[in-house]
Amino acid sequence: MDSIVVTGGAPLQGQIPIAGAKNACLTLMPATLLSEEPLTLTNAPRLSDIKTMTLLLQSLGAEVSALADGKVLAMSSHGLSSTTADYDIVRKMRASNLVLGPLLAREGHAIVSLPGGCAIGARPMDIHITALEALGAEIELKDGYLHAVARGGLKGARVPLRFASVGATENTLMAATLAKGTTIIENAAREPEIVDLVICLRRMGAQIEGEGTSTITIQGVDRLGGATHQVVTDRIELGTYMLAPVIAGGEVECLGGRMELVGAFAAKLDAAGIDVAETERGLKVRSRGDRPRAVGVVTEPFPGFPTDLQAQMMAMLCTADGVSVLEEKIFENRFMHAPELMRMGARIDVAGGTATVTGVSQLKGAPVMATDLRASVSLILAGLGASGETVVNRVYHLDRGYEHVEEKLRGVGARIERVAGK
Ligand code: UD1
Repeated sequence: MDSIVVTGGAPLQGQIPIAGAKNACLTLMPATLLSEEPLTLTNAPRLSDIKTMTLLLQSLGAEVSALADGKVLAMSSHGLSSTTADYDIVRKMRASNLVLGPLLAREGHAIVSLPGGCAIGARPMDIHITALEALGAEIELKDGYLHAVARGGLKGARVPLRFASVGATENTLMAATLAKGTTIIENAAREPEIVDLVICLRRMGAQIEGEGTSTITIQGVDRLGGATHQVVTDRIELGTYMLAPVIAGGEVECLGGRMELVGAFAAKLDAAGIDVAETERGLKVRSRGDRPRAVGVVTEPFPGFPTDLQAQMMAMLCTADGVSVLEEKIFENRFMHAPELMRMGARIDVAGGTATVTGVSQLKGAPVMATDLRASVSLILAGLGASGETVVNRVYHLDRGYEHVEEKLRGVGARIERVAGK
């Protein structure tokens, strides 16, 4: 497996282009299953998770072609050959479960493997199941697979979610577009990726109101058409690169960045004393020159502070002035980067879902191990500000969510290399 070698201490200067959002693309792609007509996505990120979703859709009989060096995905699902999402694909990527709602809506039945746990938590699917049952699906668990049937088709209903799950909101939304009558999703997730999905579904002919709020109303239609849609900017990649100059020093403009995508995160940077400026082309972050102030962070559903930026924020707070408390409220086991950061000299105390970080003046390079996607990138960020060399091993998670990370950071002056694994 490849490693990434970072030599700390080089201040950053320049621009980093931010890609289309992985998490938006992973829900927009299964939307193709809802229509016989082509769906084309532009601004798609070049990531291994997108290739996994491509393989899954192809295994169902959809045509998916990556054009323009992978930035355009041309998809068509005029005829489907299967309604089974196999364990071999689903276990690699939990977002594979997003084919469940569209398959049920289009074909009236689907068999989708349960994803199983992953490094950051158990991640059950009960909210998806309860929601689709409210729309009239019968769902049974057999041999690790969810067998779902909608006898006589899905019917619109009131669907209260016990938690504002992103994936459950997306599955329910897509299913409801072709259900008979009106569906009202209550306590819906409000993430920008859901707003992006609704914009695309509306272009395909769906009738939806209330995206970005906790109540989404969908009026079912008989069929959906084709569309071309530009994937929204990746707010997690954006937040990650916004932290790079804070840790390494210097100034970076993140091209395509918009404040409304990272409001709660930018507010924490402001509280830490870091300047974030809106420019014509994106967001510019400048290091203060001295240590940022310690800040408290609680992860929450959007518009709160995103769990997907918690590891990167922790990497920054390791060298902040004072004691920071980070509370992880979304996933039960998402501090696996903490012991790795401690190998670099960080002072972190983890108790349950709370991590207390006492800032030190500088981290020291060390060999470290990446255990999940956001943990991997947090170690790279930490390495940018550390003395000496940091070797991040097992970086395959990184390629799931960050395209060309070494090129992007090298482009602003970081000393970073990928070393091919044996
Ligand atoms: C999505 C994102 C992921 C992000 C997460 C939270 C994608 C592809 N992934 O994941 O990057 O970290 O949102 O912002 O968009 N839960 C249940 N039962 C369910 C569903 C969820 O208990 O049926 C729990 C999960 O275990 C977790 C919490 O709810 O603790 C949040 O999960 P959810 O919002 O569903 O996240 P995902 O859609 O899986």
